[in-house]
Amino acid sequence: MIAEQIKAAIRDIPDFPKPGIVFKDITPILKDPALCEKIVDAFVEQLQGIRIDAVAGVESRGFLFGLSLATRLGVPFVPVRKAGKLPFTIKQKAYKLEYGTATIEMHTDAFEPGQHILLHDDLLATGGTVTAASELIKEMGGVVCGFSFVVGLGFLDGKERIAPICDKLVVLAD
Ligand code: PRP
Ligand code: ADE
Repeated sequence: MIAEQIKAAIRDIPDFPKPGIVFKDITPILKDPALCEKIVDAFVEQLQGIRIDAVAGVESRGFLFGLSLATRLGVPFVPVRKAGKLPFTIKQKAYKLEYGTATIEMHTDAFEPGQHILLHDDLLATGGTVTAASELIKEMGGVVCGFSFVVGLGFLDGKERIAPICDKLVVLAD
């Protein structure tokens, strides 16, 4: 099962980046190309039947599988970046993380109004990041058609938090 393979590959780092946080390090997954391929296959399979016009991935770990997934689906990839990185005109949104605060930004021409956008990230913790990204996409006229994550932290309430804004949720390991 892919969930077990993902869980076995993830490394727990206690007290990173702050005391009390157990950081889920996904870099061992990236050292296993067969597992990376399986992850993209699993996303494609579980997302079958929904309209996806573009995949938006959140900097930085959301870029890792987000671009591969978009490429496999044959749709554009949209980078959702942390503040100050995008060079063209932007819209932005601030949000809270398990271990701090951040601001995300998107280019104003990232997609066309009415397009269906799949929001992708590596990990669902509190859900703050994808909630902010989802609000930004909606403010820009997009339709968030689903969310996809490699891993979810079950002890946080991310799933419950995003449930009201989420038609389709794929979490490969939770
Ligand atoms: C991590 C992770 C998600 C987010 C999940 O990103 O990659 O984007 O936190 O947390 P949440 O569900 O509580 O919002 P981080 O901001 O640490 O940046 P990184 O991907 O660049 O490491
Ligand atoms: N993003 C938010 N919380 C995290 C955690 N515990 N491990 C890795 N990434 C995270």
